Amino acid sequence: MSSISIIGSGNMASAIGALALKGGNAVEVIGRDAAKAAALARALGDGATAGTWGAAPAGDIVILAVLFDSAVPVVSEYGAALADKIVVDITNPFNPSATGLAIPDDTSVAQMVAEAAPASTQVVKAFNTLFSAVLTAGDPLDVFMAGDDPQAKASVSAFITSLGLRPRDAGDLSMAHWLEGASLLEMGLARNGVGHFNFSLGVNLG
Ligand SMILES: NC(=O)c1ccc[n+]([C@@H]2O[C@H](COP(=O)([O-])OP(=O)(O)OC[C@H]3O[C@@H](n4cnc5c(N)ncnc54)[C@H](OP(=O)(O)O)[C@@H]3O)[C@@H](O)[C@H]2O)c1
Repeated sequence: MSSISIIGSGNMASAIGALALKGGNAVEVIGRDAAKAAALARALGDGATAGTWGAAPAGDIVILAVLFDSAVPVVSEYGAALADKIVVDITNPFNPSATGLAIPDDTSVAQMVAEAAPASTQVVKAFNTLFSAVLTAGDPLDVFMAGDDPQAKASVSAFITSLGLRPRDAGDLSMAHWLEGASLLEMGLARNGVGHFNFSLGVNLG
């Protein structure tokens, strides 16, 4: 069992929070709007709690479930409160039409978050390739992840497994750029060959 805090109270916070509780994890929801965070904690039930914005999160794993352009500002505002935590960045930095990435080609939101976070914070990219509605359906899915610290990735892998999902380690944090690109690929597939958003990318083992 893991203890997680989710910063954000939108679609992904709700989807990951529900799976986390079902998997027996302790869940704290934190939002800049305390009423929204409290409402999500209540809706999730099963002992989910609402945390205080800006205070040290209760969870060892902190899921950053805010919009991509808020990720670095939020991590900077939290500062030392995130020391020694594992921060899971789930964001997708799409341009307004979701046809390209809105950040430079040589980086990723996850790497920018790592630069903004305390030195003792380990950042892992994960969950960004899964649409919230597909996650909510609760099927066993592949969760691509990337990060530099093996222990942090082991902790996040254990958390992912507790959700009934399969962790798929893609390598170090520089791979986060390609995971963010993979979400763009999904947008292209959804709008073209697949024709809807009810799918996920996964690994077919031969
Ligand atoms: N939806 C998906 O299917 C999906 C799939 C994979 C990855 N993602 C990524 O997951 C992240 C969350 O997506 P979502 O669909 O859950 O979005 P959402 O429903 O719009 O929720 C966004 C959350 O971020 C908070 N937020 C926005 N700006 C903030 C700021 N400056 N400071 C603090 N909190 C802020 C919002 O708070 P307020 O309510 O107070 O505005 C809200 O709680 C995004 O980065 C997205 O790219 C989404």
